[in-house]
Amino acid sequence: MLGSSLLVIICILLIFFLIRVKRPNNFPPGPPPIPIFGNLLQINLANPLKDFERFAEKYGNIFSFYTGSRPAVLLNSFAVIKDALVTKAQDFSGRPQDFMISHATENKGIVLADYGPVLKDHRRFALMTLRNFGLGKHSMEERILGEISHILDYLDYPTNLICINNNLRFYVLFYQIYDTFPVLRILPLPFKKAFDNVKIIKSMNQKLIDEHKSTRVPGEPRDFIDCYLDELDKGKNCVSTFCEDKLLMNIMDLHFAGTDTISNTLLTAFLYLMNHPEVQVKCQQEIDDVLEGKDQASYEDRHNMPYTQAVIHEVQRVSNTVPLSVFHSTTRDTELMGYNIPKGTIIIPNLTSVLKEDGQWKFPHEFNPANFLNEQGQFEKPEAFIPFSAGLRVCLGESLARMELFLVFVTLLRRFQFVWPEDAGKPDYTPVFGLTFTPKPYRMHIRQRDTVKQ
Ligand code: HEM
Ligand SMILES: *[C@@H]1O[C@H](CO)[C@@H](O)[C@H](O)[C@H]1NC(C)=O
Repeated sequence: MLGSSLLVIICILLIFFLIRVKRPNNFPPGPPPIPIFGNLLQINLANPLKDFERFAEKYGNIFSFYTGSRPAVLLNSFAVIKDALVTKAQDFSGRPQDFMISHATENKGIVLADYGPVLKDHRRFALMTLRNFGLGKHSMEERILGEISHILDYLDYPTNLICINNNLRFYVLFYQIYDTFPVLRILPLPFKKAFDNVKIIKSMNQKLIDEHKSTRVPGEPRDFIDCYLDELDKGKNCVSTFCEDKLLMNIMDLHFAGTDTISNTLLTAFLYLMNHPEVQVKCQQEIDDVLEGKDQASYEDRHNMPYTQAVIHEVQRVSNTVPLSVFHSTTRDTELMGYNIPKGTIIIPNLTSVLKEDGQWKFPHEFNPANFLNEQGQFEKPEAFIPFSAGLRVCLGESLARMELFLVFVTLLRRFQFVWPEDAGKPDYTPVFGLTFTPKPYRMHIRQRDTVKQ
């Protein structure tokens, strides 16, 4: 009995010894990894932030750690992140491959595609398409206002909103297991279920594409899908990088990237506005003044609303919706801050560390619209405002997101007053940690404002 346990222990030690994790030369420092697990046992996976703070204190603004046998480098502070994502953009704009997510999406979308000609073409195309729909008959602005009118109809009834969807979290856990321990992929864990879910969403979107195909008029696009189908007509049968199976992944990506982010930002906005009534009132005064006599807001009005603009930006800064951006990876052996970083290293830009960095903001640790106002009360955006990240992979939906946030924010504040319920106690601003940061569920009272003539 004792003998066999001893044998097992020796075997384990041997395995540990044989597959010892070896740091590359001159790699950024970090906690010493152990075989198989890397640094995972040193990190509380349910709430890893405390541990990462500890690492940053000990090892500095650029440090490394291992998830299993994969090295990752965490970047903190504006200077470091800018140097990587902007100054050395070519080297730092890849995406880690061989993640479960990339298996499920087959590398055909945008968000998780590695950097290369296909991605470049698709980014250019999507940006151009979004821009072309900015103005004109089927403009984004008109569509957003159309969507807002549905929200208004809904809010005209007294309601309590609690609209947080946490389904995602469950899958994220399995993705993590799948990515960290490739051996476990053969076990009957619900990986298949996660893949199946992707299949269901895929078939829904395929139906959407089929509908477009049967109703479209070539050359007269109504939306993104029509534009893509027009593009396909040009280069028959995928001679260019455009291809129908990529269209499917592209719309799934745009949908996925554009939904949670916007709704989490708005949820944060209301949480702060209710608890800073003086800020809410000041926005409403400005909005009433600028929109006097008008039916609805237009995106152009932002130029006359410096205070409201400052508040929306401050909300984005504190809501910090995508705290660790989307992971990048190095596309070749490179160098950062004097350290060597081999090709294929996972790069994690900590956007929080910039959005709350001492020295970059007048009030880094409090909610204060003055962070975006100069002495004359004009709107001014500090360089460290990077909730959409920066460089070649910067959020593709940034301009759309900003238009949506502005129009929703202004329209709702003009019409309603948002009140923190008296019996709700103190607000809890700590977000729920995940792929995106979400405020904890809260209740709010919504009152019609009587200042507005209906
Ligand atoms: C408040 C709202 C939003 C925030 C805070 C946000 C933030 C981000 C961030 C941090 C990234 C990662 C950039 C990087 O890898 O360095 C990203 C990527 C992306 N976002 Fe957004 N986003 C928002 C809204 C949207 C919307 C509305 C869309 C859809 C049109 C969108 C589409 C995308 C796409 C396609 C990517 C991947 C770009 C690439 O990999 O090259 N986002 N976003
Ligand atoms: C990102 O930066 C913030 C602020 O400096 C810090 O609290 C947090 O722990 C960091 N996150 C990671 C994953 O290092």
